[in-house]
Order: sequence, then C-alpha cells, then structure tokens
Amino acid sequence: MPARLLIVDGDAPTLLWLHSKLSDAGYAVETAHRGDLALQKIEAEAPDLIVLDLVLPDGNGLDLVRRLRADPRFAALGILVLSGQTDSDTITRALNVGVDHYVLKRPGADVELLANIRAWLALPKKGVSSGERGRIFSFCSAKGGVGTTSVCINTAYALAKLEPRAEILIVDMVFPIGSIGPSLGYDSRKTIVKLSQEPENQVDRILVEKYVSQLLKWGFRALIGANDPSEAGTLEVSRIVPIFSLLKTMYDYVLVDFGRTLSRISLPIIESSSATIVIVTPDISTVKASRVILEFLETRNMDRNRIILINNRTVGRVWTTTEDIERELKLPLAATVPYVVEYMTMAINAAVPFMDKFPEHAAGIVLTDLARRLQERDRVKK
Ligand SMILES: Nc1ncnc2c1ncn2[C@@H]1O[C@H](COP(=O)(O)OP(=O)(O)O)[C@@H](O)[C@H]1O
Ligand SMILES: [Mg+2]
Repeated sequence: MPARLLIVDGDAPTLLWLHSKLSDAGYAVETAHRGDLALQKIEAEAPDLIVLDLVLPDGNGLDLVRRLRADPRFAALGILVLSGQTDSDTITRALNVGVDHYVLKRPGADVELLANIRAWLALPKKGVSSGERGRIFSFCSAKGGVGTTSVCINTAYALAKLEPRAEILIVDMVFPIGSIGPSLGYDSRKTIVKLSQEPENQVDRILVEKYVSQLLKWGFRALIGANDPSEAGTLEVSRIVPIFSLLKTMYDYVLVDFGRTLSRISLPIIESSSATIVIVTPDISTVKASRVILEFLETRNMDRNRIILINNRTVGRVWTTTEDIERELKLPLAATVPYVVEYMTMAINAAVPFMDKFPEHAAGIVLTDLARRLQERDRVKK
C-alpha cells in the first residue's frame, strides 16, 4: 500500500503542483486548503504524513501542529512544513512544537521535500517518531501517609539506575501541597499550576523545560505541583490533559504522584497511564478505602491488569495478611515493601534515595523490582 500523504496549503497552484509531484512519486495524495478541513481529513483518513504550509486562510499552521501534537491519536503522524517563511524564529518555533522537518518554499523545493518524505517514511516506527515518546505511570492511594510519595520517588530513582539514558520526569500532583520537592531536596517557584496558566498557544517544549528542574542528583527531573494552597486554588484544570500529552512526547517516563487525590483532575491522566500503582498499607481501614477506589476505577472501565497493587508496610504491626488484602481487593499484590522502621523517614529528611542511604535493606530490592515492572509495561520497541 502506498504511503498516504495530505497536503495542506491555502494556495491552489501550490496544491496542484505538489499533488502532481507527490502522486508521480507513487504516494496516495489528498489535499486540504484550510486548517479545519485538514483536521477533518486527518481524523477521517489517518494519513501517514502531512505537508503543511504555515500561512493558511483560516489561521496559523502552527496552531494546527499544536493541536495534533497534543492529541495522542495522532502521535504517529509525520508533519513536514513547506513554507515561504524563512526567519529562524519561525523555523525554531515550528520545530519546537513538533514539526519533523522544515523545507523552504522555493523553486525546486519539491526535490528536497521528496527526499525528506522518503527519509521520514523510512524511519523505524518506534511507537512514533516525534509524537508519543514516553509512558505515564500514576501513583495513588486511598489514604494519605501510606507511602505513595516514598514509593514514587524511590521507584523513579531505581528506574534511573536501571536505564541511565532514559529521560525521566516526576510530577507532583498532590494538591494543595505536595512533598516531592522537599523529599528530593529541590525547591522552585515554577509549578505545574503556573504552567497551567500560561497562554495556551505558548505551551511548547521550550516553555515546559523552563518549568521542569535540571537533572537532579537522583537521575531524573521534577515538576512541582503547587507551593501553597492559595496557588493550588488557581490551577487551570482544563490545561492538565494537554500538558500531560506534551510531557509524554518529551520524556521516556512520566511518573506522577497523585497522592490520594482521585478527582476530575487526576482521572483522565490515570486512565491514560500505562499502569497505575495503587499503594495500600496492611491495616483494615486503608484496605477498605482502597477497595472503594478500585471499584470506582472499575466503573470507569479501567482494566484491572493496568493496576499494580503495592503493599507498603509503613507500620511494624501487620493487621491484615497478604491473602486478606488480595481477597478484599480482588487483585493480586504485585509486591510488598517491608517495614523499614524510621529509615525511610531518615532518607526522606536527608532528601536522598532510600537505597543509597540503606543499600543493604530489602526494601530497595523490592522497589527496584517495581521499576523493572514499569520498564516492561507497554515497552516501546526501539
Ligand atoms: N516501608 C516503609 N517503612 C517505614 N516507613 C515508611 C515506609 N514507607 C513510607 N514510610 C514513611 O511513612 C510516612 C508517609 O510516607 P509518604 O511517602 O509521605 O506517604 P504519602 O505520600 O502516601 O502521604 C513517611 O514518614 C515515610 O518515611
Ligand atoms: Mg505524599
């Protein structure tokens, strides 16, 4: 089957010229002369690649690119720009919002364009070229204080050790006040709340990178939730899904600490996660509350095999056995993290990874094992 291309250009002679050149080259070619029509055709016909002009009768081509790149359905779509705009600002902006190649419109540009189309189509479909890069893992619990943050940051650390070249981001989504920052020894005024208030059309990779930390000594980056309750109250909820779609294209792993906030904010992200790690502790009230959470996720058609249940023994005394928990929650436990007395708190107070401070302890091995499980989930063939 020939590759399917869609040409988007407001100029009729250009459409004709490209249509004949690209059809002659053996591709199945469609055209659209406006952005909104292009979007309809992309939705209906799922082309492999679009060739896009930036000046369209109904607006800026880059707005279309932003929409496409924020939508996981089009993660595999190739986007080549063919534009008369030659300033480096525009070119840089285009590449930053997710354009694969930028070809200058001039006589003879069809040769360069064809070479780029051929090169793009020959790329291995590694889940996707520039779109869907990474996977989201959500960490949550029915109650606070069960160790969600401890498990999340130390699993992220284990993951960074297992896969040193992976780009890993940890996002604090515990509102009104999370603990990722202090637990990692990282402090910043740049939060996801502030990011959610940026003008929609300016949220691209470059801007997001200004909000994300440098590579921390933990081996990953972090994005803080909110610094205080009044800030948290100003979160622009409608922007959260697009932000996570963008994060997913920027990092190999996005680990999200949702704490016990199962809400309209967290649900869409949880539902689009490769797996959700639900932390329980072996006491009756937490187990019962977790059951409610799991049943709720089930009503949302969340597949049970996308839930990884972790028993974290934050207390020395065990009130319920593994079997009790599994029976009550109707799910097998993926792992049990042993009670580590005050060591976890000591590690967190010192803002260092637990397994570095107490390498001889079994809890580190269990958390490394959890990291390995995440690696295997929806693994993208490279
Ligand atoms: N396996 C464990 N053994 C002992 N203490 C733990 C363990 N896991 C977590 N803790 C401690 O439990 C407390 C709550 O952990 P935290 O990660 O902040 O929970 P959450 O994010 O669910 O509120 C912290 O003081 C932490 O050090
Ligand atoms: Mg927490």
